[in-house]
Amino acid sequence: MNVLVTGGAGYIGSHTCVELLQAGHRVIIADNLSNASADVPERIAVIAGAAPVFYQVDVRDKDALREIFRAYAIDSVIHFAGFKAVGESCREPLKYYRNNIDSTLTLLEVMGEFGCKTIVFSSSATVYGPNNPVPYREDMPANVATNPYGWTKLMIEQILRDQASADPEFRAVLLRYFNPIGAHPTGLLGDDPNGIPNNLMPYVARVAAGILPKLTVFGGDYDTPDGTCLRDYLHVVDLAKGHLAAIDYAASHPGAEAINLGTGSGVSVLELVHAFTRATGREVPYVIGPRRDGDLPMVWADAGKAKALLGWTAEKTLEEMCRDSWSFASKAGNR
Ligand code: NAD
Ligand code: UFG
Repeated sequence: MNVLVTGGAGYIGSHTCVELLQAGHRVIIADNLSNASADVPERIAVIAGAAPVFYQVDVRDKDALREIFRAYAIDSVIHFAGFKAVGESCREPLKYYRNNIDSTLTLLEVMGEFGCKTIVFSSSATVYGPNNPVPYREDMPANVATNPYGWTKLMIEQILRDQASADPEFRAVLLRYFNPIGAHPTGLLGDDPNGIPNNLMPYVARVAAGILPKLTVFGGDYDTPDGTCLRDYLHVVDLAKGHLAAIDYAASHPGAEAINLGTGSGVSVLELVHAFTRATGREVPYVIGPRRDGDLPMVWADAGKAKALLGWTAEKTLEEMCRDSWSFASKAGNR
C-alpha cells in the first residue's frame, strides 16, 4: 500500500514508518519539521533498509498536499501531525486549535478530492476526561476535555465520525494512545523534546544522564498503592505495530471506530523510577513534591477491543521500555 504519514518525522510517526517499510508498504511522509529533526527520514531508512519518500510540507498547505496525492496514489493516511503539549495548549489555545483542527480539515478535503477514504488518527486517552472509572473502555462517554489539546482530540474524533456518517465508504480508526515511552532498540529514533521535558520518561532519562539534578514526583499522597499516580505506559514500537494492524482493519471496515492502544495495566511513578534503575543501572534521585494540576490518580486502558478487532496486544516489558529510552537518551548526538 501507499501510505501517507503526516507527522511521520516525529516520535511515534517515525517508529511507525519503520514498521510500515519493514512490512513492505511504500511510505510517504508529510512533516513540516516543527517538532522533528531533518535527519529522521535518513535514520528511518537505515533501520528499515528502505527509504521513505519525504516532503517537508505543512499539512495545512492544500496545494502542497495535492502535489503529494498527484504524485502517489495514496491508499491510506496515518495522521500524526499536530501539537501535543498540554501546558502550552492552555497558554496558547489558538495555536493548538489552528494547527490541529486546520491540518485535519485540509487533509480530509484533499483526501476527498482524490478519492482516498481510509484514515488512522492519533487520538489520546485524554478524551476519557476526568469522570470515567479505570480501566477506560471505548464505549464510555468521551465528551469532556480538561485542556485545549484534549479538546482538539475530541473535536477531530467528532469530525471523523461526522465524515463517516456522511460517506458510507469512509473508513476511520481513532487510536486512543495511553502513555508511549521507549525508543527504537537501535538507539536511532526516540523522544527528543526541546527544553525541560514535561513528560516523565524523558525527564527521568535526563536525570539519569546528570543533565537535570533530580526528579520531582508530582504528588505522593494519592489513593494508590504507593501514593503516586498510575499510568498505562507502552513501548513506542508496540504502539507503532498497532498502526499497521489499524490500517489493515480500516481498509475493510467502513465507519469510525475508536480503539485504545495500551497494555491494560497501571504502573506508578515510583515503580517506573525503580524499573529504570534495574534496567539501566543508573540511579534516579527524586523528591516527592506537590501534585501537578490536572493530573488524574489512575489512567489505564481496557485493551480488549484492540485485541479483538486488530489482533494487537502490547508485548514489550517495562524494563525494555526503560532500557530503550536510556539507550536513545544516552547516545551522543540525540540531544
Ligand atoms: P511529535 O511532536 O514528535 O510528532 C508530531 C509531528 O508532526 C512532528 O514531527 C511535527 O514536526 C509534525 N507537525 C506538527 N504540525 C504539523 C503540520 N501542521 N504539518 C506538518 N507536520 C506537522 O509527537 P508524537 O509524540 O509523535 O505524537 C504524534 C501524535 O500522537 C500527535 O497527534 C499527538 O497528539 C498524538 N499523541 C501523542 C501522545 C504522546 O504521549 N506522545 C499521546 C497521545 C496522542
Ligand atoms: N510526573 C512526575 N514528574 C515529572 C513528570 C511527570 O511525577 O516530572 C508524573 C505525572 O504526575 C504523571 C506521570 O508522571 O503521574 C506521567 O506524566 P506524563 O506527563 O508523562 O504523562 P500524562 O499521563 O500526564 O500525560 C499523557 C500525555 C498527554 C495526554 C495525557 C492524557 O503526555 O499528552 O497523557 O492521558 F493528554
